[in-house]
Amino acid sequence: DLVRELRGLADVEQRLARRLGLQRVIVVPGDADVDDTSKKEIARATARFLKEVLREGQVLAVTGGSTLAEVALSLPEESVPLGITVVPGRGGLGEDVELQANTIAAEIARRLRANYRLLHVPDDLPEEAVETVASQPQVREILDLIRRADIVLHGVGTAEEMARRRRLGPAETARLRERGAVGEAFGYYFNRQGQPVYQTASFGLRVEDLAHCGQVVVVGGGRSKAEAALAVISTGYQDVLITDEGLAWRVLELT
Ligand code: G3H
Repeated sequence: DLVRELRGLADVEQRLARRLGLQRVIVVPGDADVDDTSKKEIARATARFLKEVLREGQVLAVTGGSTLAEVALSLPEESVPLGITVVPGRGGLGEDVELQANTIAAEIARRLRANYRLLHVPDDLPEEAVETVASQPQVREILDLIRRADIVLHGVGTAEEMARRRRLGPAETARLRERGAVGEAFGYYFNRQGQPVYQTASFGLRVEDLAHCGQVVVVGGGRSKAEAALAVISTGYQDVLITDEGLAWRVLELT
């Protein structure tokens, strides 16, 4: 806490919250772009936040990515069940299995001794097939849980990095650029104004569902993600940001 005080982190948190219209901002020291310990710090802060806010009977929806994977690893292994249900925000998005929302949701549930429901659906189905699968009762039930989650915890990435990671082809990547996509979250790519301009074909949370969810928490750090985070937060759905100084200072410069 001495570090927080010396670095004026509480002041940065308040300025950011005011400027972005967020309920709460948590800023940890460092910059995840240059130092991996910052990502771990973000994860630990997020784990503490979750333990503080989660209540029995609630539904927690989580997305994928390396930051969320760290969050899962930062949670303590509970001896008493928390009585919550964990669900993935989206099905697979064309990423490695360790980084997928399903894997992370299962690990979080294991540590919190929570119930969980997963979305086992291939992520490269043609649109008609997506509709057919989404209308099956077993899938509907999980989608209903996701769409009324009490807490949505999601990562944020730059459009460029996420397109690369998901191996989007040159035509799709060019389309993203043309449409001014700068940020990505739960399979949606957003322009600077926070408008979704492209989405990965997959199941689960849609941008408009966030209006019906409880608290929406965006987690991610590093100066390079500042524009991306701004784009995502410009949708107006986020309540809480958990980040590092690298991203925080850059956002203050940009706004
Ligand atoms: O949607 C955004 C990404 O999942 C963020 O991934 O935490 O590995 O940067 P990352």
